Amino acid sequence: MKEGTFIVLEGIDGTGKSTISKKLKEWLEGDGREVVLTAEPTKEWLGNAVRRANEEDLDPRTESLLFTADRCQHTKRIGTWLDEGKVVICDRYFGSTVAYQGAALAPLMGDNAIPWLMALNGPVARRADVTILLTCEPSMAMRRVGDRGHLSKFEKEEYLRKVQDNYLMLAKELNWTVVDSDVQLAQVVETVKQAVRAYV
Ligand code: TYD
Repeated sequence: MKEGTFIVLEGIDGTGKSTISKKLKEWLEGDGREVVLTAEPTKEWLGNAVRRANEEDLDPRTESLLFTADRCQHTKRIGTWLDEGKVVICDRYFGSTVAYQGAALAPLMGDNAIPWLMALNGPVARRADVTILLTCEPSMAMRRVGDRGHLSKFEKEEYLRKVQDNYLMLAKELNWTVVDSDVQLAQVVETVKQAVRAYV
């Protein structure tokens, strides 16, 4: 049986991750692959707990643990889909915790924040075959998420800038593919397909 492929899309809010992941799914299905599109926070009760935590003023360490708990259970389901030979496209994964909670924890933990989050996620997260980081000028991202109406505390421009810096640091360290999403959608989709092609 053909082994599954684990594809992760990361990026700040407003980079078009969900649109791109849907296009990627259509393309791979057109190629005869069975595809599961999944996302974090999940739609399970742990994901709902994370969403509730987003709305309340919880300690960012508590939030980090909740996001990671949701991921731990999600990773088991991802493992099952991969064992079944499916392509799994995951909209956000452990990089989101390192980038977002890394930014939120910096005032509290300084330089210890990111190493702690990496250590916490090490035994929980599974290695993806390919991770695509979609980047975007944060002011542009703000305009896009602003169009959706309600802004969460994770969607403020200055914060998003720090989050994107953390993402870029991870991309360099972990060899992720970085794709600029400030161009025509068709062009972004094409670049993402090229990055994925070698693995599916
Ligand atoms: P989002 O992808 O917007 O999900 P939904 O559309 O279901 O609300 O994620 C919600 C917010 O949570 C988003 O601003 C990013 C943030 N987030 C973290 O801070 N850490 C994480 O580990 C994850 C997965 C998301």
